[in-house]
Amino acid sequence: MSSSSRSPQQPVLQLQQLTRVHGSGATEVHALRGIDLDVFPGELVAVMGPSGSGKSTLLTIAGGLDVPSSGRVIVENTDITTADRKTLAALRRRSIGYVFQDYNLIPALTAAENIALPRELDGTSARKARREAITALEEMSLGHLADRFPDEMSGGQQQRVAIARALVGDRRLVLADEPTGALDSETGESVLALLRARCDGGAAGVLVTHEPRFAAWADRVVFLRDGAVVDQTVRSDADSLLTGRTAER
Ligand SMILES: Nc1ncnc2c1ncn2[C@@H]1O[C@H](COP(=O)(O)OP(=O)(O)OP(=O)(O)O)[C@@H](O)[C@H]1O
Ligand SMILES: [Mg+2]
Repeated sequence: MSSSSRSPQQPVLQLQQLTRVHGSGATEVHALRGIDLDVFPGELVAVMGPSGSGKSTLLTIAGGLDVPSSGRVIVENTDITTADRKTLAALRRRSIGYVFQDYNLIPALTAAENIALPRELDGTSARKARREAITALEEMSLGHLADRFPDEMSGGQQQRVAIARALVGDRRLVLADEPTGALDSETGESVLALLRARCDGGAAGVLVTHEPRFAAWADRVVFLRDGAVVDQTVRSDADSLLTGRTAER
C-alpha cells in the first residue's frame, strides 16, 4: 500500500452501490437499494430513518457481519465483499469495532477482560492485552471499572465499556446500532460524548439512532427510507433542523 493511499483524505469506510435483498420470490425484501456512503477519519455519521428502512442492514454489512447482494464495502482499502474469510476475520478484529444496542459484554468476564479478549484472539499476549484494556478504560475515565463484571455496572457504564472494547487497538472504524437505546437520555449523552471524542481522535464512526438529540453529535446525518438515502445534512444544518442545539465543540 503506498503512503499516499493512506493519507488522511482516504475514507475509512466506503459503501458503493450497496444492495441487499432478503429472501426471494414473493417474500423478497429489498432492504438496501443502492447505497453510496464514504466515512472519513475523524467523522461521525448518524444514520436515521423509519423502522425497517435498512439502518441495521447497512451497519451489519459495513461491519462484515452480513454480505450485500451487490455492491462494494471497502474498509481501510480492503474490499471486504471479496476478501477471504481469514482476511475478513482479521479485519473485523483489528479495524472494526461494533457496538450493539444491548452492550453484548460477556457476563463471565470483567470489563478489562472483555476489552482484552479480541486483542488476545488476535495474538496479543494476555499481559499486553490487559495493559491496553486498562489504558483504554483510563482514557475514557473508566479505570475504576476494570475489575467489575457486567452485572456490577450500570447500563451506561456497560455501554461505555463496550465502546472501549470496540476501539481498543488500532481499530479506526466504529459502528454503533442504537447504542443509547436502553439508556436514559443523560447516560445516552455520555455514551455519545465518548463516541464523539474517539472520532475527534481520528476514528470514523457510524451511529444508527432514532433520537435527533443524539444525531446532533454527528458531523453528518444520512436519512434512509425504504433502503435508499433520501436526504443528507451536514452538521450546521443538522443542528438547526434537528434540535436547535448550538455548536459547543
Ligand atoms: N434476516 C432477514 N430476513 C428477511 N428480512 C429481513 C431480515 N433482516 C431485515 N429484514 C428486512 O429488511 C428491512 C430492513 O430491516 P432493518 O433491520 O435493516 O431495518 P432498521 O432500519 O434497522 O429498522 P429498526 O429501526 O426497526 O431497527 C425490513 O423490511 C426487514 O423486515
Ligand atoms: Mg435496526
